[in-house]
Amino acid sequence: MSAQPVPTTAEPKAVPLPASDAEAVSPGPAASAATPRRVALVTGANRGIGLEICRQLAAEGVRVLLSGRSAPAVTEAARRLASEGLDVEAVVLDVTDPRSIQAAADGIGHRHGRLDILVNNAAIRVEPYGCGPSAQPLALWHQTFATNLFGVVAVTQAMLPLLRRSPAARIVNVSSLLASLGTHSDPASYAYSDMFKSLPAYSASKSAVNAWTVHLAYELRETGIKVNAVHPGYTRTDMNEGAGELEPGQGALTSVRMALLGPDGPTGQYVHMGRQIPW
Ligand SMILES: NC(=O)c1ccc[n+]([C@@H]2O[C@H](COP(=O)([O-])OP(=O)(O)OC[C@H]3O[C@@H](n4cnc5c(N)ncnc54)[C@H](OP(=O)(O)O)[C@@H]3O)[C@@H](O)[C@H]2O)c1
Repeated sequence: MSAQPVPTTAEPKAVPLPASDAEAVSPGPAASAATPRRVALVTGANRGIGLEICRQLAAEGVRVLLSGRSAPAVTEAARRLASEGLDVEAVVLDVTDPRSIQAAADGIGHRHGRLDILVNNAAIRVEPYGCGPSAQPLALWHQTFATNLFGVVAVTQAMLPLLRRSPAARIVNVSSLLASLGTHSDPASYAYSDMFKSLPAYSASKSAVNAWTVHLAYELRETGIKVNAVHPGYTRTDMNEGAGELEPGQGALTSVRMALLGPDGPTGQYVHMGRQIPW
């Protein structure tokens, strides 16, 4: 089986963020005597990029709620980070289960009273590589969208009341370069290839996440809540059988950066390492 085709060496031309936006990223420790420690929820965080997002946010002084669908897995992952001296709490959260989502929201509300950062990271890639869209079973599309899109929408809607209690909440939707319709449809692009087209259901689910990002950012434009989509980079994780180009810690950087955006940072954008990607 080949790897997930996200060649960072051949990425589309990215538009740099305005200098003010780049400078607005504030990676310094969150807590001070005057400012309460920020609280972040990361979905699908027991392994892969999500685990590294938790590690990096906690290292920045954020109280991290490390969530996943398996209680033993999140307990073990949180224990590992806690053993490194990081402030991490395990939360059981299956993004496809409405009762699990509501229980998580209720628990966070009870224990923390608000949420400052939501990173929608959980996703699946269940289709085999290279199966054309005309031949893919519909069940595979349902399964993919249940986690990758409906999970994002459901978790975000459930957490929004808590996010609205934050003075400056941030929502980071972990998308993919495979979501980019601009690159997919350009015959002159490297993405106009069998390799880049090999995961239609996964790619379409991430394009839909991008659309959700744009619509939600618009709805929340007058609030302090910023909503952005990110491409983490082609990263060595279980999702692509360890075939990526980046280490998981590098794959976490863009999400962490967008989670810690300052007040002048962008909203409604699709970015990788501080640069915009064509939709
Ligand atoms: N790796 C790459 O090259 C790459 C490139 C572009 C975008 N991305 C995106 O980056 C994000 C992280 O991917 P990754 O590479 O770290 O993948 P991964 O190693 O396969 O990890 C996926 C995580 O999602 C969790 N998950 C799956 N279904 C879930 C559900 N129903 N509820 C809660 N958690 C669930 C998994 O939990 P279990 O352990 O319980 O299965 C796991 O913790 C994803 O959004 C992915 O699409 C990755």
